[in-house]
Amino acid sequence: MESISRRTHTCGQLRPDHAGATVTLHGWVDSIRDKGGVMFLILRDRYGMVQVTLDERCGDGAWTDAKAARLEYVLEVEGAVHKRADSAINSKMETGSIEVLAERVRILSTTKPLPFTINSDKIASEEVRLNYRYLDLRRPPLQRALMTRHKAALSTRTYMDAHGFCEVETPILNRSTPEGARDYLVPSRVHPGHWYALPQSPQIFKQLLMVSGMDRYFQIVKCFRDEDLRADRQPEFTQIDVEMSFCTRDLIVEIANGLVRQVWSDVIGVAVGDIPTITYHESMDRFGRDAPDMRFGMEHTTLDWSGTDFRVIASAVEQGGIVKAMVVKDAVEGTSRKVIDGWTEFVKRYRLGGLLWGKVTADGWTGPLSKVEESYREMIPDVEVGDVVLVAAGPAAHVHAGLGKLRETIARQRDLIPADAFAFVWVVDFPAFEQDEETGHWTAMHHPFTKPLDEHIGWLGTDKMGDILSDAYDLCCNGYEIGGGSIRIFDSEVQAKVFSALGLSDEEAQDKFGFLMDALQYGAPPHGGLAMGFDRWCMLLCGTENIRDVIAFPKTTTAQDLMAGAPNLVDSAQLEELFVRNTND
Ligand code: AMO
Repeated sequence: MESISRRTHTCGQLRPDHAGATVTLHGWVDSIRDKGGVMFLILRDRYGMVQVTLDERCGDGAWTDAKAARLEYVLEVEGAVHKRADSAINSKMETGSIEVLAERVRILSTTKPLPFTINSDKIASEEVRLNYRYLDLRRPPLQRALMTRHKAALSTRTYMDAHGFCEVETPILNRSTPEGARDYLVPSRVHPGHWYALPQSPQIFKQLLMVSGMDRYFQIVKCFRDEDLRADRQPEFTQIDVEMSFCTRDLIVEIANGLVRQVWSDVIGVAVGDIPTITYHESMDRFGRDAPDMRFGMEHTTLDWSGTDFRVIASAVEQGGIVKAMVVKDAVEGTSRKVIDGWTEFVKRYRLGGLLWGKVTADGWTGPLSKVEESYREMIPDVEVGDVVLVAAGPAAHVHAGLGKLRETIARQRDLIPADAFAFVWVVDFPAFEQDEETGHWTAMHHPFTKPLDEHIGWLGTDKMGDILSDAYDLCCNGYEIGGGSIRIFDSEVQAKVFSALGLSDEEAQDKFGFLMDALQYGAPPHGGLAMGFDRWCMLLCGTENIRDVIAFPKTTTAQDLMAGAPNLVDSAQLEELFVRNTND
C-alpha cells in the first residue's frame, strides 16, 4: 500500500477563502448520501466536518473508493475547494459555505460493523458507549469536552505561572493521607506485608513543600478516593492543588477568584463578576446545604414556632428540632395533590417524617398549614396569594437536607434555573469537627491540618468541640462544591492538640503523621491553600451534569472501567509475589 500523503488542511478548517485550492484531507466518514451520479460524503475529524462532493466532473480515481466507503471508514481525500451556490449553503456547518470536489479518494482503513452509530440523534446507552469508549470519544460533544479540558488546564498553568506558582509533582505511591475516604492500597513486593496508599490528595506533601521554602506551589494532579460514587464523583479525579506561604484567607480567595475569572474567560468567554462570601451557618440556614445553588431564590426561613399548638411541630421542637419554611411562588395553579405527595415522598429519603403544606388562595389557606395558628403563619415572609408554602420540622440535619434538596428539585421541575448562568459563592467558617451520631467520635470536617479560628483554639478537647469554627473555605458554583481549602496549623503543639482532640494517641499521631509534626518544628512558615475539583470545573464549562462526559476514560458508578475490564482478577503467581492471599480462596 502506498504511503499516505501529507494532510494540507483539517476538516473543520476550510472556508470560502480557500476556494480554488487543492487540498488533502484525512478523516472518518460521518455520513453518506449517494444519489447515483452525485454523491456527498461528510468527512469528520476532531476539528470539524466538511462535505466532499463527487459528480460527473470526478474521474474514476475518486469514484471507486468513494462507492466502497461506509460509515466510519478512514479516508484520504484529495480535491479542489469550491464555494457553494447560495442556495446550497449549510449554515449548520462551519464549513457549510464550501465543498471539496474530490479528485482522488482512498480508503485508508475500514471498520467492522459498529456497535452503535456515531452520528445519530439517538445516543446509545451509556453502558454500550463506555464499553467502546474510543468510539464514543469520536462524537463531537465529547471531543469538544476533551478540548475544553485541555484549554482549562492550559489557562490554569498560564495563570498560576504568572502569579509565581511553581508546579511540583508529588508521589503517587504514598502513605495514607487523611481526606476521609477509604484508600486505594498497593502492596509492596520488596517489603512483604507493607502497602502504599494512592494519594487522596497531595495535602501533606504540599505542606512540606512550604516548609521547604517553595513559597507558592501548584499541581494539576490525580487523586484517588474509594468512596460512594455519584454523578459528580469519580474514584480517580483531578485537582488543581494549590498551597502558599505567608497568606491569609483573603489572599487565597483573591488568587482563586482570579483563576476562576481567567479560566472562564479563556475557555468559554464568560466574564465572572464578584464572587460573594457567606458563612457555613448562613448557607445552611438559607439553602439547607453547604454547597448552595444560588442561581434561583426559594430560600428557606427558620421559624420560631416553639409555642404552637400544632402537634407535629410542637413535638419536633420539644425534641430539640427546628422548623423551616420554603415558599414556592405562583405555584397554586398546577401543583396537584399528587405533586405535593411526590415532594413529601422525596423528603422522606432525608429522614424527614413528611412535609406540611399550604396553598394560599384568595379565599385563604388550604391544606394542613391552614390549621396552624395565623400568628405563626404570618412569620413566614413574602407569602402572597398563589403561593404554595412548605414547612418541615425535625432534627436540624434532616430538615436542612430534605428541604435543601427539595428546593433544587422544585427549581428544576418548575424551570426556575436560568440557562448558562454561573452563580459562584465562597462558603467560609466551617465547623472544624463533626461528631459521629452513633459512636460519638469526633472527626475533622475538612482535614486535621486545618487551623481552628484563633479564638477557638482553647476549646480543643473541651465540651465546646462542636462550636469550634475553622479557617476553612469552599468554593461552590451552581450547587456543586468545586473547590475547598484552609489555612493550616503551622504550630506543632496546636497540631498535637488537634490529633489528641480527635482521639489519636501520641503514638498513633507519631506513627501516621510524625514526619509532618517533625517538619513543623523546623521553621515552618504560616501557610494555607486549597484544591479545585478540576473535573467539576470542566463539567460546568461544558454545561454537563455528568462527570464522565469530561473524562476521557472514566469509571462507572461501580468504579469499573467497562472497556478495559478494570478492576480484574490477577493470577495467583502475581499475588504470591506480592505476599497477598485472596481470603475467598
Ligand atoms: P477536598 O477533599 O475538599 O480538599 O477536595 C477538593 C475538591 O476536589 C473535588 N473532589 C472530587 N471531584 C471528583 N470526584 C471526587 N471523588 C472528588 N472528591 C473531591 C471537589 C472538592 O472541592 N487537600 C484538600 C484541599 C486543601 O485543603 O488544600 C482536599 O483535597 O471539587
